[in-house]
Amino acid sequence: MKLLSGNSNKPLSKNIAKYLKSKLVNSSIRNFSDGEIYVEINENIRGNSIFIIQSVSSPANDNLMELLLCIDALKRSSAKNITAVIPYFGYARQDRKVVPRTAISAKLVSDLITNAGANRILSVDLHAGQIQGFFNVPVDHLFAINVLIEYIKEQKFENMIVISPDAGGVERARAYAKRLDTSLAIIDKRRDIPNEAKAMNIIGDVSGKTCLLVDDIVDTAGTLCTAASALKDHGAEKVIAYCTHPVLSGPAIDRITESNLDELVVTDTVPLSEAAIASGRIRQLSMASMLAESIRRVSNEESISAMFR
Ligand code: R5P
Repeated sequence: MKLLSGNSNKPLSKNIAKYLKSKLVNSSIRNFSDGEIYVEINENIRGNSIFIIQSVSSPANDNLMELLLCIDALKRSSAKNITAVIPYFGYARQDRKVVPRTAISAKLVSDLITNAGANRILSVDLHAGQIQGFFNVPVDHLFAINVLIEYIKEQKFENMIVISPDAGGVERARAYAKRLDTSLAIIDKRRDIPNEAKAMNIIGDVSGKTCLLVDDIVDTAGTLCTAASALKDHGAEKVIAYCTHPVLSGPAIDRITESNLDELVVTDTVPLSEAAIASGRIRQLSMASMLAESIRRVSNEESISAMFR
């Protein structure tokens, strides 16, 4: 078994390798002057099971293309099998036609990855569980809940309530509420145009409570910051957000800095920018040990679901 890292999240790849006491495959990934990506594997990998670690995070198109070219290079170097470890699977939000005449990017990207030659996918908190079915190869779906819940429990919050920032996140929020043995409230979010969120009503009583807002992605942070304001307007004592994938694009950092959020806790499926770190408002927990353990289990043909029981 060998690990190869793309350029999207080198620190996470290095930590995974460290946990597995393994080295990253020696490779060269460069750009031609016109922007085309060039991938070369600099060591023999014939007959090896290879795990290529690459998030489809910003710049999403470059990172996706890099992933595809890495898979192609591995296939043409006679790897025995290729697992695409995609901590953050970008393009997943367009998973159905919400209005007529739109693309379903999650399906297209799944097809591209499989057709490039991936034999298996390992990913974390897919935007929707059914995306697993978009791939025609096995998908191991990991959940950041183990890592985030451990941290929440350490905080020993009193009077907690878990909040789903929209109807689509209820299943995820319910899983947190169940594990924390607490109640659940839902924000009725209306979105008029993409990336602009408006929180309308809160279903549930949040007055005087510590609200744990859980979401899979924080992108422009509109959803979280609007939700935090709505919760505080309804008497919430504290609002702490837990999001797996810190995409944090556009106005996100400014919004978070000026928001009513008491803290934002994320994982390292996507690396934080310098501005995000400098804001001092974001705590990052690592998924490296969970991903490494999953890679070990896949490699040894052991159960992954046992990690979440
Ligand atoms: C939406 O369905 C997702 O779960 C997130 O709530 C959304 O992607 C967050 O986007 P933003 O931070 O731009 O509001």
